[in-house]
Amino acid sequence: MTMPTPRPGIFDIDPYVVGDSDAPDAARVIKLSSNECALGPSSEAVAAFCEAGDRLYRYPDSAAIELRKAIATGNGLDAEKIVCGNGSDELLTMLAQSYAGPGDEVLFSEHSFLIYPIIARFAGATPVMAPENRLTVNVDALLDKVTKKTRIVFVTNPGNPTGSYLPATEIARLHEGLPENVLLVLDGAYAEYVMADNYSPGNDLVDVSNNVVMTRTFSKIYALSGLRLGWCYCPAVVVDVLNRVRGPFNVSCPAQAAGLAAIKDTVHTAKIRAENETWRAWTSKQLSALGFDVAPSVTNFILVRFSSDPAHNAESANAFLLAEGILTRRTVNYGIPDSLRITIGTEAEMRELVAALARFKEMA
Ligand SMILES: Cc1ncc(COP(=O)(O)O)c(C=O)c1O
Repeated sequence: MTMPTPRPGIFDIDPYVVGDSDAPDAARVIKLSSNECALGPSSEAVAAFCEAGDRLYRYPDSAAIELRKAIATGNGLDAEKIVCGNGSDELLTMLAQSYAGPGDEVLFSEHSFLIYPIIARFAGATPVMAPENRLTVNVDALLDKVTKKTRIVFVTNPGNPTGSYLPATEIARLHEGLPENVLLVLDGAYAEYVMADNYSPGNDLVDVSNNVVMTRTFSKIYALSGLRLGWCYCPAVVVDVLNRVRGPFNVSCPAQAAGLAAIKDTVHTAKIRAENETWRAWTSKQLSALGFDVAPSVTNFILVRFSSDPAHNAESANAFLLAEGILTRRTVNYGIPDSLRITIGTEAEMRELVAALARFKEMA
């Protein structure tokens, strides 16, 4: 029997595995598996979302003008260089589709966000991975892997699932080492959490080059994962490309309204950032005191390493926590089988997590 077949390479794609969202046997669930923001969105954003209900019979503003202006004002950027998307995933996919194809290579670092190999293959290109150095992106290793076929380099900065980051000088060194025809995509999904003075999400590089794009999301610090809203900051030539290929109404009317209100509510964002700092530091300290190896993180999650003893390894810890209703993320698919990625939740959630891992540690 003949049937339609997808392009070569589609069946080489391993579907993206999302974080667990349910613990069937537990009385309550603490979800620390998808780096969402447990404090929730700005009440202004929720109100704007609800008000948008009255306008659902109209298509949204195709150019998302007010939202782009608010993003530009909030971040000190040029609104003309901003393109919004249905989550930053959509923008990453459009970039891969637009700049890479069969015979091309798409390069990224060893423990990167798992969407990069998927969108590379979807574009028909070959994903290429460069080794990291102690859970941190290695600029020299990336540059070593650049060939004549390289079209895009994706760098998650700060990294997911590692929580580490590269300073602006290292990103600039990477950019300098790349041929001008290679697009450098700086994925700043967690940029708003970073307090380090030597960090930049990359908008400064975008402003002085034609081959750098910075992607950002409302799914993390703005706590709007369910709405699907992302944006990117790009040179005019890339804006032109994305505006040719994106759906004309790719960002819904409620998403535009809520995103605009969220970005204006700087008090709420500052509160989330401060809470995250407090509970990330507390959780890291408590888990280290229990003997766990916690990687330094500048994000809203931590990577915790477990022993190789089958009773106390990452798989057992994940199962133990799941039975207690605490959902974390295994990092086997990210090439880090001995660890769990744990999102920073509320104070109460972090206290429960630490207490549960203390019990896990004591188990014979
Ligand atoms: C590094 C990184 N980039 C992009 C995304 C996708 O974000 P969005 O929800 O905007 O599609 C995520 C989500 O987890 C992420 O961790």
